[in-house]
Amino acid sequence: MGMLDGKVAIVTGSGHGIGRGHAMELAKHGAKIIVNDLGGSVTGEGSGRAADETVALIEAKGGEASPNFGDVSNHEQCGEMVQQAIDTYGRLDIVVNNAGIVRDAAIWNMTPENFDVVMAVHVRGTWSLSHFAAKYFREQAKAGAGINGRIINTTSGAGLGGNFGQTNYATAKAAIAGLTLTLAQELASSGVTVNCVGPAGLTRITATMPGAGEAFEPDDIPEGEFHRMDPKNSSPLVAWLASDEAQYVNGQVIRCLYDQIIWMKGWSERVVIASGDKPWDATKLGARMAAEVFNVSPTGINFPKA
Ligand SMILES: NC(=O)c1ccc[n+]([C@@H]2O[C@H](COP(=O)([O-])OP(=O)(O)OC[C@H]3O[C@@H](n4cnc5c(N)ncnc54)[C@H](O)[C@@H]3O)[C@@H](O)[C@H]2O)c1
Repeated sequence: MGMLDGKVAIVTGSGHGIGRGHAMELAKHGAKIIVNDLGGSVTGEGSGRAADETVALIEAKGGEASPNFGDVSNHEQCGEMVQQAIDTYGRLDIVVNNAGIVRDAAIWNMTPENFDVVMAVHVRGTWSLSHFAAKYFREQAKAGAGINGRIINTTSGAGLGGNFGQTNYATAKAAIAGLTLTLAQELASSGVTVNCVGPAGLTRITATMPGAGEAFEPDDIPEGEFHRMDPKNSSPLVAWLASDEAQYVNGQVIRCLYDQIIWMKGWSERVVIASGDKPWDATKLGARMAAEVFNVSPTGINFPKA
């Protein structure tokens, strides 16, 4: 008996890398998978049939999967993905929004197009598929189907802490964390949880970083062996979040780096000062900010570096 037996999942961008690891892991535990992948380059150009490779890998291990070659930044094609899951396997339980591209450059060299395309794939893609999945989940909940729906989104260290040269990607990944928190509130009453993972691995995306080395695929590392940069290191976490056991986990951001699982704390209040029901005066604010908020000398000389 697999922990995901009888469940149906869509994993976007699962033709390569981390998504392929997720799709194979979910299938290993019994889920049937729609393997979505546009099959383009790491910067989002072109298209191809990478989804077929992941489907073949799943089928070779006795699992069930169907390819989908849609583009997550195309709203209608996200709707078609949900429909494909229903037409092929009769239902949908799990959505893993994983597809991604990079177009790095310092902001002064970044074109507006390279900002927009990255936002379209990561943010609009996550939003569009969640939109159609949410409609379906709500209909099921209203019909009394008693589903344990799942949306699992993908953020990154760049989105949570910033990264030089990635104003587009980091903005998109931060937005996905915000989207997750809101979706978690909107869908809780329908029995759906929405969480966000922050994976890691030496994939096509990270191989674009200078000195990173060559990308590899999750199936390059034999099952049971551990590699710190294996793209599938976070896949067991995704499978568990997708399972009924994790029904109590909602609106959380959880990173998985190397062999670690890290539960993230979001923006929270650090220090609060009050004006005492009077307007603030900018010329007098410095002394209080230094003494009461930042705990530095009035010139900020011992202000902690970012
Ligand atoms: N590799 C890391 O260390 C790391 C760290 C944090 C977050 N991430 C995130 O993990 C996710 C997977 O990235 P990866 O590192 O495995 O890279 P990858 O390039 O190996 O995989 C991304 C997949 O998404 C697909 N894709 C791209 N645009 C698409 C679109 N419009 N529609 C459908 N599919 C599309 C690509 O074809 C590719 O197969 C991304 O969201 C990425 O931002 C990766």
